[in-house]
Amino acid sequence: MTALRAVSRRPRIVAGNWKMNRTATEGGALARELAALSAADPAMPAAPVVVLCPSFPLLEAVGRALAGSGMRLGAQNLHAETHGAFTGEVSGAMLAAAGCAWVIVGHSERRQLMGETDAQVAAKLRAAQRDGLVPIVCVGETLAEYQANRTEEVLVRQVTTVWHGLSLEGARGTVVAYEPVWAIGTGKVATPEQARDAHRVIRATLDRVVGGEAGGALVILYGGSVNAGNAASLFAESDVDGALVGGASLEAASFWKIVAAAAAAG
Ligand code: PGA
Repeated sequence: MTALRAVSRRPRIVAGNWKMNRTATEGGALARELAALSAADPAMPAAPVVVLCPSFPLLEAVGRALAGSGMRLGAQNLHAETHGAFTGEVSGAMLAAAGCAWVIVGHSERRQLMGETDAQVAAKLRAAQRDGLVPIVCVGETLAEYQANRTEEVLVRQVTTVWHGLSLEGARGTVVAYEPVWAIGTGKVATPEQARDAHRVIRATLDRVVGGEAGGALVILYGGSVNAGNAASLFAESDVDGALVGGASLEAASFWKIVAAAAAAG
């Protein structure tokens, strides 16, 4: 597996999860700032893939601001059904029609605050693919699980439940985000070694669950207090393919430094 991964590098991806922040006007302005930084950056648009994930009411304004920049538009959640009596929910087809090509699925805030289960996350992954969206599927252990030394067990359970039954081709159309819950929004970033070890557990589990060397093929992002100062050391780990960035994605200059670190990591 190691030799295979060395032959062709997986794409690098940096995704910004804006969470419940900014209005459409503010989001459009932030996206225009990023588009300007991208246009001025000689390393772009070659690498990496940059995805912005604002709240639903911002999608149109941010999509307009990103047009022609090479950056991509993503949402933060979707409902698994195609349509119907699900007040307040949004379908994948609606997101695609609004210009999204990506969607975050199973973020730990949704798992913890809205009670999303592994089974629901699995259904959302499939719904995203049905509707032509690339799902960025989040996994990761809570602080209590981390302190109880249960990280590996939790990751194996989440990956097994969510990816079970997908073909190699289907799995390759997904992106994993390893986000230890204790690192999200806390300023306590995982060490590069901790991220590497978790990513290796995820890759080994994907090999087992999907087969066909899926583990080496999938892009795995690290998320949790990534910022301009720590991104390069995380990207230096060959198993870390990019980042899902929360707080530091809300300010154009800091987010672009993370994108530049991914570009420099090659
Ligand atoms: P953070 O959030 O970068 O603010 O820790 C990451 C995330 O929740 O995706």
